[in-house]
This record gives sequence, C-alpha cells and structure tokens, in this order.
Amino acid sequence: MAAEPVYKQGWSPDDIAWEKFDRAKAEPWLVDAIKSAALVEYNAPDYVGYLKRVFPDPSFHPVIEQWGREESQHGLVLGRWAEMADPSFKLEEAFARFRAGYRPAHFDSSDETSVRGSKRGEMIARCVIESGTSSYYTAIKEATAEPVLQEIAGRIAADEYRHYKLFYETLQTQGEADLSFWKKIVIAVGRAAESDDDEIAFSRYCATVAASDVTTRPYSRAACMRAVSAATLRVYRRRHIEKLTRMIAKAVGADPQSRMVRLAGAALWRMLRVRAGLLGATTGAA
Ligand SMILES: [Fe+2]
Ligand SMILES: [Fe+2]
Repeated sequence: MAAEPVYKQGWSPDDIAWEKFDRAKAEPWLVDAIKSAALVEYNAPDYVGYLKRVFPDPSFHPVIEQWGREESQHGLVLGRWAEMADPSFKLEEAFARFRAGYRPAHFDSSDETSVRGSKRGEMIARCVIESGTSSYYTAIKEATAEPVLQEIAGRIAADEYRHYKLFYETLQTQGEADLSFWKKIVIAVGRAAESDDDEIAFSRYCATVAASDVTTRPYSRAACMRAVSAATLRVYRRRHIEKLTRMIAKAVGADPQSRMVRLAGAALWRMLRVRAGLLGATTGAA
C-alpha cells in the first residue's frame, strides 16, 4: 500500500495536480456537498473581522489573518473542483447570493465580547468547528475515488487539524478564569447544534439551485437540511465520528480516552444514523 502523502502548511492552488481530474469519478451527490462547503469556507473573511474584535491583542491578528486566508483558499479550491465537475456551477455567482442572504448579526456588530460569552468560550467553539471540518474532509478523502478531490480533501483536512491545534493552544493561554466543565459542555454542544443553522442550509440552497430557478424552487431550510444530513451521513464512517468526539472532548478538558467520551461518540454516531434513517438498514458501515 502506498504511503499517505504528508501535506504541510503553506500550499497553494498551483500545488494541486488538477490534470488528474476524472469527471467519471465525481459523483453528483458529493459534487453538491462540495459546492456547499466551498461557499461556507469562502466566507471566512467575515469571521476574521469578528475574531479580531474579540481578540484585540495585535500580536494575535497576523495569526487570525493567516487562518482566514487558509479558509478562503479552501473555498477557492473546492469551488474550482466543483466548477470542473459541474460547469454550470459558478463559485463567485453562488457565493454572491449566499452572502446576500446569510449574514449573522455578530458579523456586523462592534461588540468586542464573543457571542460565546468569553474568549475561552470562543476558542472552545472554534475547536468544535475545526474538529468538525477536520473529520469531514478526512471522511471525504476516504469516500471519493476522484483523485483531485482526494488530494484537495487531504490538504484541507491537514489544515483544519492545524487550526484545531492553534485554537486549542490559544484556549490554554487565555488569562481569563477557566470555565466550569459543564459550561464548556454547554458551549461545545451549543456550537455543534448550530450546525443546523442557516449557514449550512442556505449554502446548500445557493450551491445547488441556480439563480434562474429560485422562483420555481424557493428556499426551504428543512428540505436543505434533509439533503445535507443525507450527504453527511453518506460521507462519515464511525471512526470519523469517534475521532471528532475525542477532539471535542479534549477541548472541553475531558479525557479523550475515558468511557464517558467513548459513550458520547457512540451516542453521536447513533444519533446521526437515526437522523438519516440508516439505523438497521446497514451493518458494518464503520
Ligand atoms: Fe476550512
Ligand atoms: Fe479551519
């Protein structure tokens, strides 16, 4: 078996072997999931402005800006791959519609307090997101047979894992008093539950419904979330969810190897499968 490539920080779109693209291996359900992910990633500059307000220490700003550039680049390469797989898709056009319709209040506020209540809370929420993206792109890399997407997902997954480490280390260096364990759990679960919010559903809509079809196919958050859930469950295997759970556990100060965390991982896996109506329908999917 060939050794897995090691993807270091600081790559550019020119490093990707685009010439290996094989459209026959770009499955339509996965193309739609990638289009949606591209829009969310491409929106990173708004998060940069927000994080710089919450963390006013100027020495941290270059780090946040670098993080934002990497996230935007994820959007760019995912969008470029989706345009190759489906030439009717145009990243910039879909992104303009997404941005016009999705803008959380805290992006436009001048408030210097995190919506999570504290800097530590903000970093826990960021760790949850980076745990999710790291596991998601790892799962995509393993779910697809398309060579360019394998490479892109591998590069992005490595970036996301580094982002997790960055925010985890930043969490440890905050001068604020530590939060109680249960407060940390509430923040982590709260942020994970927000994955159901309009960012995910509306990105799916803008990614998969052409501008010319919006009158005949109006936005339905519930329908978009059903499509997202189905695709997500098609990508993930049990091992990805277990790793995701261990990463979040570490961020809230729990022992990632503890029985409680193993049970939480099993419960999350079961919940995701129930949501997708898969329980009992398949065996050995791990
Ligand atoms: Fe990303
Ligand atoms: Fe990231």
